[in-house]
Amino acid sequence: MTCEAVILAAGLGTRMKSARPKVLHTLGGKPLLGWVIEAVTESLGRAPWIVVGPEADEVRAAVGEGGRFVVQEERLGTGHAVLQAAGEFGEGVERILVASADMPLISADTMRRLRETQENHDGPFTLLTVESETARGFGRVVRDTEGNILEIVEAAHASPDQLAIRELNVGAYCFDAEWLWAHLPELPLSPKGEYYLTDLVAAAAAEGRSAAAVSVEDPIEAIGINTRAHLAQAETALRARVNRRWMEAGVTMLDPETTYIGLEVEIGPDTEILPNTILEGRTQIGEGCVIGPNTVVHDSEIGDRCQIQASVLEGATLEAEVLIGPFAHLRPGAHLERGVHMGNFGEVKNSRLKRGVRMGHFSYIGDATIGEAVNIGAGTITCNYDGEQKHHTDIEAGAFIGSDTMLVAPVRIGRRARTGAGAVVTKDVPDHAVAVGVPARVIRKLKPEDE
Ligand code: UD1
Ligand code: CA
Repeated sequence: MTCEAVILAAGLGTRMKSARPKVLHTLGGKPLLGWVIEAVTESLGRAPWIVVGPEADEVRAAVGEGGRFVVQEERLGTGHAVLQAAGEFGEGVERILVASADMPLISADTMRRLRETQENHDGPFTLLTVESETARGFGRVVRDTEGNILEIVEAAHASPDQLAIRELNVGAYCFDAEWLWAHLPELPLSPKGEYYLTDLVAAAAAEGRSAAAVSVEDPIEAIGINTRAHLAQAETALRARVNRRWMEAGVTMLDPETTYIGLEVEIGPDTEILPNTILEGRTQIGEGCVIGPNTVVHDSEIGDRCQIQASVLEGATLEAEVLIGPFAHLRPGAHLERGVHMGNFGEVKNSRLKRGVRMGHFSYIGDATIGEAVNIGAGTITCNYDGEQKHHTDIEAGAFIGSDTMLVAPVRIGRRARTGAGAVVTKDVPDHAVAVGVPARVIRKLKPEDE
């Protein structure tokens, strides 16, 4: 019962007008070829053979270890491409699934149905079709009055009557292996000088046999990528599907059309996503948050009941009830504990802000540990880089950093210590001390009644 798969990826993709191979253009952040490899592998339980052109180093590198490749030296059409893989399969292989690398949205489930239909039918192959008003240059499926499939006519060679046919060839097939290898070498040369895989339909009909057809469940599966406009259409369709799933899972979206959610992102129920928001990479968002508008979150973890407005987060961790923005930038290694408030025009990198830290306005905190309930005054900056090395800043719990303080690292501000407005702190400030000036000096110790 073995079935093996061949993915066609040797085409030039000239209509993309790109220096990059078409199959490496991305959809939902993943290369087109990656989508097809995944669907095929999931449906068969084994990796496919991939037909590539002679100069496909980039494609090979993108697929990486475990990729199995066949080279099509000359691009003589889809039929010729499949034929290049003939030598890879032994006698035990009964069926061959063929898919195109430019049809990224065909699901594993559809591939499985294609294979199962062929398993349960004695015709030479099964093909995937779609009923669609937008024909987009697909081959037309021509049937006789009894519904038998007679041929597939490529749009370029179709008569006006044939062009009106709405049943289209999606470009995925499951063949009886023996029949395929016997008939592929006999394909006629098309008027375009190519060997069309689709001409196998007429070859079967000529023997009085008919191909079976399976149609896609969701029309978005039939979006093929030949141009950048198709790619944008596929992105839109994919986005709609992803967003619908999150709404079904309890996420509110004010405007799904401007909400971009990556495939690996996770979002808790009762979270609200506001317009122009991009959530990408390995981002996880808790319950009851409000994210956006105008926010980008990449590879970050966000706890429950956080609010993030008009900000950019990359590689950040936020515990519960953190308030961010507008206009904050969190960079890799920013860790904001529960209840931290970070207001406008702040940047935090590689730093831990412990519970209840408040940092309202115009600050840069890099390579620092900020203790519980510290207040960071407007304009505070950790001067963490001396031109050669990065240094650490420690601010202990309860400290109050005056507006416009420069903390020249390495430096430590003690527990409940204070700095005056405009202080340039070059030396450690002891616990409970007040330091002011440029460079800052300690002027007094706080008495318990001052604190
Ligand atoms: C093909 C089908 C068409 C179908 C459409 C659906 C043929 C002749 N036509 O048209 O009926 O409606 O797909 O998507 O098959 N490729 C190679 N080597 C080649 C030529 C192509 O590997 O020599 C690969 C391409 O990289 C691509 C796939 O085969 O992944 C399909 O080729 P493409 O040129 O895009 O065919 P379409 O014109 O879209
Ligand atoms: Ca195509």
